Amino acid sequence: PTFEPIDPVRGITNISSGKMGYALARACRDAGAEVTLVSGPTALTEPVGVHTLAVRQAREMLAAVEQSLAGQDVFISVAAVADYRPAEYHEHKIKKQHEGVPTLSLLENPDILATIAARPDAPFCVGFAAESRNVLEFAEAKRQRKKLPLLVANLAQTAMGADDNEIVLLDDAGQHPMPRMEKSEVAWA
Ligand code: C5P
Repeated sequence: PTFEPIDPVRGITNISSGKMGYALARACRDAGAEVTLVSGPTALTEPVGVHTLAVRQAREMLAAVEQSLAGQDVFISVAAVADYRPAEYHEHKIKKQHEGVPTLSLLENPDILATIAARPDAPFCVGFAAESRNVLEFAEAKRQRKKLPLLVANLAQTAMGADDNEIVLLDDAGQHPMPRMEKSEVAWA
């Protein structure tokens, strides 16, 4: 996931564990690739033999991806990036108000994958789509909108945080469903 801070102790994030991304980094390494893993906050161990860059916010993730892009053949955008961030960061912990409730204003984050895929020197871009309903329809719309040769669709409720995953690959030739497998096996497939 990414983490968008509100104040020193709070922020906006999501329930992604990072397991699918780390499994992909290992699988690509084992297939002989030189891998750079740009990772938001997770509880996972850094894979051996992979160049790992730790970031927190979506904008930091975009900067790290852009800085790592030269010479890359493939970009797999598997991170669950926050679409919005708080409009302002409070340097000190926000105190509880005793009259009324605070409001949170949001700003849109950059779309990392769409930004990279739109570059004239874009590597082969692979997207992910975690949807909670209408998975294939929403995922194919996302693939078209972000102009991706390959997108991995999965159901958010069963994929996020789990050790296994059931995916459908979407490309110009159509839909390619895979059986439910451990994320390491999904990554290899
Ligand atoms: O969040 P969403 O389901 O639209 O994500 C689809 C794809 O876009 C994923 O591959 C994700 O990594 C990427 N994405 C991104 N930057 C964002 C939001 C999503 O790169 N701000």
